[in-house]
Amino acid sequence: MDVISVIRTKRDRGRLSDEQIDWVIDAYTRGAVADEQMSALAMAILLNGMDRAEIARWTAAMINSGERMDFSSLPRPTSDKHSTGGVGDKITLPLAPLVAACGAAVPQLSGRGLGHTGGTLDKLESIPGWRASLSNAEMLDVLRGTGAVICAAGDGLAPADKKLYALRDVTGTVEAIPLIASSIMSKKIAEGTGSLVLDVKVGTGAFMKTIEDARELASTMVGLGTDHGVRTVALLTDMSTPLGLTAGNALEVRESVEVLAGGGPADVVELTLALAREMLDAAGLPDADPAKALADGSAMDVWRRMIAAQGGDPDATLPVAREQHVVHASTSGVLEILDAYAVGIAAWRLGAGRARKEDVVQLGAGVELHAKPGDTVVAGQPLMTLHTDTPEKFGYALEALHGGILVGATDATFEPKPIVLD
Ligand code: URA
Repeated sequence: MDVISVIRTKRDRGRLSDEQIDWVIDAYTRGAVADEQMSALAMAILLNGMDRAEIARWTAAMINSGERMDFSSLPRPTSDKHSTGGVGDKITLPLAPLVAACGAAVPQLSGRGLGHTGGTLDKLESIPGWRASLSNAEMLDVLRGTGAVICAAGDGLAPADKKLYALRDVTGTVEAIPLIASSIMSKKIAEGTGSLVLDVKVGTGAFMKTIEDARELASTMVGLGTDHGVRTVALLTDMSTPLGLTAGNALEVRESVEVLAGGGPADVVELTLALAREMLDAAGLPDADPAKALADGSAMDVWRRMIAAQGGDPDATLPVAREQHVVHASTSGVLEILDAYAVGIAAWRLGAGRARKEDVVQLGAGVELHAKPGDTVVAGQPLMTLHTDTPEKFGYALEALHGGILVGATDATFEPKPIVLD
């Protein structure tokens, strides 16, 4: 087998055979296929697509590139959630302890932010002492002891995806449904969860900009999970405006703790509960009541134990950025658009995200919103506060927001969007 013939097959709109797929994934993981060759193949896949059978084989080859975890010794059913990423998407933080408080075990392998979307591990690292990297044995211990664990995937899990994802990120080949679906599902299947709920985001702040593309991605991933014996369901959810009132690491942890304390923004609470119900249902616990577990403090108890078990101090003061800048409404009316992508880029430029994997994020940086689409605002009223340690970034953040905020004279043209679209 040689890599050039594999690239040519896909370049010329052919189907990759099982043998070609198994060989190229294995050879790339071993270093026998070079990055430039794999990036040519990734671009050919992005341009010419893959059919379902090719995607299934590609996913299986990525799973087989590394180890598989096994939670079958746990006394509880396992359930995990994966979001395709968005702005202000802190849902994993309240969700994992909430579902654990209702009786499931939640092994939540999470990632870091890149570009305008935040990453769960970066958010949790704003809690002093908290550790993202756990050995498989430590992960199982935290899961057994508290019911939930949120940590980084170890190097042994789907190593082909680790290499390929980093390559796609710098070659403009992230936004291909076959590559996204196989990347996400190879990790989730190798992780060994019994059930999985996918939160597929749709809108300006998401990878998928249209509901049709999001539905295609969702159904591809549900098919892959089901074929591998993982009970998998997907929700399509709105990402046209940020979730909640914060985008940025420590800011989002603070908001998540508010949700666990029984408060927090209505959209974050609604989505957390909707995903919790799906996870509990998929785990075979349809009678559990997540709203009660939020209200009676049992989800907060799990959160505190989970954070402490990973070295964090749940009572510690969270980092605050050194400088703030308030953005005011320039006219009176109804806030029609508060664009997720614009806010995500602004938070990123303020220091909440990284441009390259080796960049260090500012834990206190980000955007705090004071109004959401549909709210009536008056000229001069604060719309949002920008937070950063590097005030020279305010100008870049304001540039990103340009065109992302629209105040209409009346609510005549404002169309409220549900959080859960399908
Ligand atoms: N998240 C992943 O893990 N992989 C992708 O390709 C996109 C989002």
